Formats: sequence, C-alpha cells, structure tokens
Amino acid sequence: MSFDPDQMELPSRPELFDFRGVSMTHFFTDNWENVQNFKARPDDVLIATYPKAGTTWVSYILDLLYFGQTSPERQTSVPIYERVPFLELIVPKFVPGLDQVERLPTSPRLIKTHFPVQFVPKSFWEQNCKIIYVARNAKDNMVSYFHFDSMAMIEPDPGDWNNYFQRFMQGKVVTGSWYDHVNGWWKKKQTSPNVHYMFYEDLVEDTGREIDKLCSFLGLSPSEDERKRITGGVQFDKMKKNNMTNYSTHARMDFKTGSFMRKGRVGDWKNHFTVAQNEEFDEDYKKKMKDPTLQLRTDL
Ligand code: A3P
Repeated sequence: MSFDPDQMELPSRPELFDFRGVSMTHFFTDNWENVQNFKARPDDVLIATYPKAGTTWVSYILDLLYFGQTSPERQTSVPIYERVPFLELIVPKFVPGLDQVERLPTSPRLIKTHFPVQFVPKSFWEQNCKIIYVARNAKDNMVSYFHFDSMAMIEPDPGDWNNYFQRFMQGKVVTGSWYDHVNGWWKKKQTSPNVHYMFYEDLVEDTGREIDKLCSFLGLSPSEDERKRITGGVQFDKMKKNNMTNYSTHARMDFKTGSFMRKGRVGDWKNHFTVAQNEEFDEDYKKKMKDPTLQLRTDL
C-alpha cells in the first residue's frame, strides 16, 4: 500500500448497511465467501479487536516478540499493516487482506480481524489457533473511532461529534455494536482457552506486565534484555515516530485531518463528552452491559 501522497486520489466514502445483523461496508464483506473458507494453520495467531482498541499496538508487540530478533530488516522496511494483514479488508486496486495473508512468508502468520466473534472463519477454531482479543473502554474507543473515521477515506463519513455519539451507541458504525463485540468475545473466552482477552487500559498501565501475560499465553520466553527492548520500543511516542508503525505510508488515510497515532491515552473522552452526553451514555451502558464480570476502566 505504498503511495505518493501528491498523487493520491481519495475514493468516495462507502455506505453503511446491515450485514447479517452487523453494520458493515462492502470493503469488509465483498470477500465474505473466500474469507469464510480461509484455511488456517495451527500456528496462525489471530489478533481480534473492535476498531481502535489497540490493534496496531498489539500487532507490533507480537511482531517484535516473534520476529524482532530474526528479521531486523523487516523492522525498517515493512509497514505493520503488511506484516499483520487485515483478513477481511478488500479495497479496489489493493491486494485483498486474504491474499496478503496467503503470501506471508512468516511462520507463524500474524493476522488481524475486526470481525465480531460469530463472523470468525471456522477454520481458526478447528485448528485451535491462538487468538488475542483486545478491548478498550467504550468512551475512549468511540472518540478514537470518530477521529479515525474523519481521516480514513474507506470509512463512512462520521458527520459531527453529536451525531456520531448517537450512532456509536446504536451500533451504526463499521463492525456494528461495540457492546455486542466486546460481550460476544468475552463470552467466547469463557469456553475457549485459546482466546486471550486483554484490555487497552491494562497495556497503558503496565505494558511489561501485559507482555509477560502474552508471552505465557503464547509459550514465548524472550530474554530479559529482549523483553525490556520490546517494552520500550512499543511505547506511544516511539511508535508515533516510527514510519513502519504510524501508518504514514498508508494510501487510504488523509493525514491533513489527523494522525493515526493520535493521543494513546485513557480518559481522552473527557475532552469530548459533554456532561449531558456522559449521563446519557452511562444510562444506556448499564442497560447493555449486564455481565458484571466484564469491567472496562474509563480512567486510570
Ligand atoms: P487514539 O486515537 O485514542 O490515540 P487501532 O490500532 O486498533 O486502530 O487503535 C488505534 C488507537 O490505539 C489510537 O488511539 C492509537 O493512538 C492507540 N495506540 C496505538 N499504539 C499505541 C501505544 N503504543 N500506546 C498507546 N496507544 C496506542
């Protein structure tokens, strides 16, 4: 997806529609049959998230854990979205995510999806693949998604903040309801030892601790030096400056309207939600988030 920004022609934004009960655009459904028939390998690692929950962060951590030592040139020449292809993404003129996965030379293959749990191709379950799910609190997730939709030309027009706020609560954004997504994966994790469920807020609070948990889930044992190097290298400021992780080489972003590595904080929602919106949100949240075992922090 390398490009010359001056030559970049931004596509028109797609329409949202209901796809099997989930709001989607055709960029995520046009390859549905092929994606559903995907043949996973037992050592494939799937990174699943609701958009803007920290997918790129965890992708980079995993890439460094697996390949940081063995392929140093990969770190300076291959953008993270090519190292960890987006399974269901299919955009005209670009190699579909599925084909990118098939062409990956690495073992294991690291694969990204934003699918709700019921859309995940069955082969991942049949092959007992390791799956890492990252959840982020709904308020910050919404804010991050709003800014992203403003700059990502493959997303529907986000409109203004007040309008977006309502649409997010109704699940009328790509990948549908945040509430259904995090709950669906949480439920699945209860019966699937191959799902590691982690939280963006925990990663911000103590990146090293969360990397340790990831390693024990994946059966990896980096040296102490390596662990320290990775923990330092994946901090927000480092990733923001790194052209291989900050999406600056991506053809479908309009960097005039924002940056992919925007703030990377817990609690930025307070700069966006009005007092009235916060009350409305909390009221609605209580109705949708009934499982007391799933707790997300909106503050650290
Ligand atoms: P913000 O928009 O709140 O800054 P995804 O990769 O799923 O699209 O998520 C993007 C969000 O994760 C953005 O949030 C981005 O800044 C944040 N992020 C990426 N790398 C991060 C890091 N190293 N530390 C903290 N946040 C990070």
